[in-house]
Amino acid sequence: MFVSFEGLDGSGKSTQAELLRARLEAEGRQVVSTREPGGTELGERIRDLVLHGGHVGPWAEALLYAASRAQHVEEVIRPALARGASVICDRYVDSSVAYQGVGRGLGLERVLDLNLTAVGGLLPDRTFLLLIEPSQVSQRLPGDHDRLESESDDFHSRAADGYRELASRFSDRIVVLEGTRPAEELAEEVYGALR
Ligand code: TYD
Repeated sequence: MFVSFEGLDGSGKSTQAELLRARLEAEGRQVVSTREPGGTELGERIRDLVLHGGHVGPWAEALLYAASRAQHVEEVIRPALARGASVICDRYVDSSVAYQGVGRGLGLERVLDLNLTAVGGLLPDRTFLLLIEPSQVSQRLPGDHDRLESESDDFHSRAADGYRELASRFSDRIVVLEGTRPAEELAEEVYGALR
């Protein structure tokens, strides 16, 4: 089983990924919990370049995220699925489609195609999309903001539009949840949807 969590920064997706990991492990399942950008040594270096470096142009950004993802799939995700582990990924292809495809205006189709090529067509079995208002992004994040988190409300609004478009296009795969609901309640719903 391959599950991903998606949403704007501060939507609570990382908390839900962690709650699901704990629950599946408590059932005795083997779980690989990972994140993007990152998840491999190369990916963590790309993460640093893209989030904490200087200016990165829109296509360079899309290609760096896709490169990190390609490595992640080859090195971590496919091998884990092949040995029968469950994979929980905090962000995946949908993040690039929402943020780079729609947020940066590169085009939903073009960024989706790029990413499907990068991952050899591997999509999650289920994706949980946690919705929050774009204006909540800066309020819900503590401390220093990275390059993407520091973007305007407009950028986050466009990314949210991208997510909504993906949810209607991939309605069999993507489960939409209200990110402002209590974490424990959301965790129950996530678990229920997987059973
Ligand atoms: P994330 O790891 O969720 O941030 P943090 O660990 O700081 O909570 O994601 C980092 C940022 O990268 C986030 O603002 C969204 C952005 N991002 C993209 O724009 N495209 C992508 O493909 C991915 C995976 C992330």
